[in-house]
Amino acid sequence: MFSREENELLTRVGPGTPMGELMRRYWMPALLSEEIPTPDCAPVRVRLLGEDLVAIRDTAGRIGLLAEHCSHRGTSLFYGRNEECGLTCIYHGWKYDVEGNVLETPAEPVDSDFRKKLRHTAYPCKEAAGMIFTYMGPGDKLPLFPRYEWADLPAPRTCPIKSYLECNFLQGIEGDFDSSHTTFLHNNNIKNLERLKRDGAPALEAEDTGYGMRAVSIRKIGAEQIYVRTSPYILPSFSIVPGPPTAKFEEDDIRAFRFWAPIDDETTWLYILNMRNRPFSDDERKSFRSWLGSDYRRTRNGQNDYLQDRGYQRTTSYSGIHAVIAAEQDGCATESMGPIYDRSKEHLGYSDKTIIALRKMLMRAVGALREGKDPPHIMRDPQSNDFSKLRSLKGVLPAGTPWRKILAGLEPNDG
Ligand code: FES
Ligand SMILES: [Fe+2]
Repeated sequence: MFSREENELLTRVGPGTPMGELMRRYWMPALLSEEIPTPDCAPVRVRLLGEDLVAIRDTAGRIGLLAEHCSHRGTSLFYGRNEECGLTCIYHGWKYDVEGNVLETPAEPVDSDFRKKLRHTAYPCKEAAGMIFTYMGPGDKLPLFPRYEWADLPAPRTCPIKSYLECNFLQGIEGDFDSSHTTFLHNNNIKNLERLKRDGAPALEAEDTGYGMRAVSIRKIGAEQIYVRTSPYILPSFSIVPGPPTAKFEEDDIRAFRFWAPIDDETTWLYILNMRNRPFSDDERKSFRSWLGSDYRRTRNGQNDYLQDRGYQRTTSYSGIHAVIAAEQDGCATESMGPIYDRSKEHLGYSDKTIIALRKMLMRAVGALREGKDPPHIMRDPQSNDFSKLRSLKGVLPAGTPWRKILAGLEPNDG
């Protein structure tokens, strides 16, 4: 269904590639605030969209995201000295500020103004909800920072984490819009026949919205009830996925905003930003990351076959993968396709309807950019930049309930 060429177009994210250029038009997560916790702390390496960068928090607390290799002769600025409002290369002392200005070139003659002609690559950054976002596109196209629910939340009510995924971003985010897999991959109690009765093969809808797409799945529960789930897909590679079912049609207590940020073509950071209406405790914060090592890699990963337990698979769990959160099982499903799956080999069915819609939307956005237009969901007008009500919703309703109408009332901003 999807040709090799389309697959290349959808998955390559380096500089100059169509998808890479599209991604560079949006604010994208670059790292967690905790990675550079204090002014003048050690720089950290960041790789994003195939570019090697170094992040710092300078003496004044300003964040810089600079190209890793020194403009002089390329030594890595990761080893540099972060002090006195700038990052200094340890080879010959060239010093940069967070905007990429060359402040000092001490090995040059004192009267040299050489440094004034230079500009080191530096991307603008914004910090929100314990995360640091960057914009890597053309300077004159800088969009507004979209005001999602988390943009204004106080720190105690947000808890961001990230997890390393050893495959292309598209494989990752496609899992978020693949409603039927939850019945299988995430079934941790295969003896619970109720669940299978409920889930079956859901009816799927994909509705275009201003921010991207709203995916809806509707499952019949016997003749009397339906279970409806809605998941916003937000351009270019973000999502909100609903939690477990509840009796009321409502948002989750803990909402999880997900960002799939390509490190390069073959690896991805999944950022999960948890938030809710009251503060998280320290224990809750710990439990959110209990499935991750100190390097943000999953304890269960491809190197150890996800610690799959065949006994557990036989008796209890569909996958046999013990999981604190579903992302551990998702990791196996998506990474085991290989770093970039060749989509010309797929056999897509009805259950892939929303994934097909997502791919087509990305292709349309690439097309718009190629025609010189702003792609969808590039925010320029402060009046329409309010996404604070954007949620995923889910719940069990009596069969025949006009869920569309309910949805229209609960999710007012389509912008
Ligand atoms: S390579 Fe960095 S100052 Fe010379
Ligand atoms: Fe999943």
